[in-house]
Amino acid sequence: MLVWAIASQKGGVGKTTTVASLAGWFQKENLKVLIIDTDPHASLTSYLGFDYNGIDKSLFDLYTMEELTYDNVKSCITHTNFPNLDIIVSSMTLATIDRKLSGRAGVGRILTHALSLVEDDYDIALIDCPPVLGALMVNALVASSSILVPTQTEFLSLKGLEGMVRTFAVMKKADEQCNINYTIIPTMYDKRTKASRTSLDFLIAHYKDNLWKSQIPVDTLFRESSQRGMPITMLDEKCRGAQAYRKLMIDQLGIELKNNKDKITPNAAAIVSLEPESAHRESDDIDLVADDMGTMLKD
Ligand SMILES: Nc1ncnc2c1ncn2[C@@H]1O[C@H](COP(=O)(O)OP(=O)(O)OP(=O)(O)O)[C@@H](O)[C@H]1O
Ligand SMILES: [Mg+2]
Repeated sequence: MLVWAIASQKGGVGKTTTVASLAGWFQKENLKVLIIDTDPHASLTSYLGFDYNGIDKSLFDLYTMEELTYDNVKSCITHTNFPNLDIIVSSMTLATIDRKLSGRAGVGRILTHALSLVEDDYDIALIDCPPVLGALMVNALVASSSILVPTQTEFLSLKGLEGMVRTFAVMKKADEQCNINYTIIPTMYDKRTKASRTSLDFLIAHYKDNLWKSQIPVDTLFRESSQRGMPITMLDEKCRGAQAYRKLMIDQLGIELKNNKDKITPNAAAIVSLEPESAHRESDDIDLVADDMGTMLKD
């Protein structure tokens, strides 16, 4: 099972929209998807039409359980109205979790442990993070095979990105085994505006190695999709916003195929290999290997 955390220390940059839209695409590809709302504001929970009051157990229960077992974790998972799409909902009480867990050793790995128990039930887990650095975000980052950092293409968000990248460095220092693979996703991009173009130039100049090669454009349908309680893929999969997220799904799976082959399920890998673009990437790989071999075999 792949685990992607969608994180940024800046609010309103498109984290929840990214989780809902990617979940919509994975679900459409018949993959089994678990989404986890770790934001006490519960935006993702309401995006999918849920209200905590109608749910038995939430993420708060998972974090405060005496013992994590398969059945206990399963009891915190709710089916959505959409096939193959399950959710662990958030609640306001999650805001107290930092205080509740503080000082205890190993609390940063609770989510990693919980997800490892259900990893055979899903192809991918997508985690929506709150915009603050605390136990909830650390748990999400540590549990992930990849981290997506949505960054709105405007000046203030670039500042937020700096903070996030610093956090990655601190985590690596705290735990050398901590495997941080992150991709910056430019969001709400509008090529007609100078602010968008200048921000993208800045991202290319400073973060090229971790920058997704494409962008998520501004699309008013995102607002409508959250109002109607369904991912944009179910509203209009052909619109440019939805298509951009499809490209993100394929590109990011391509990265996972290279970096985390052991975690990608055959069903998820099949999506990449069926794409014409991946044939191109594969031939790039073959060239690379051929170069290496050429050097090895030289007299
Ligand atoms: N590509 C886009 N084009 C137009 N509007 C967008 C786009 N992406 C997100 N939005 C809108 O921007 C607002 C903020 O998006 P979203 O809630 O996904 O951000 P967030 O990072 O999760 O925010 P928070 O930090 O508050 O949780 C929402 O109203 C959403 O509908
Ligand atoms: Mg959000």
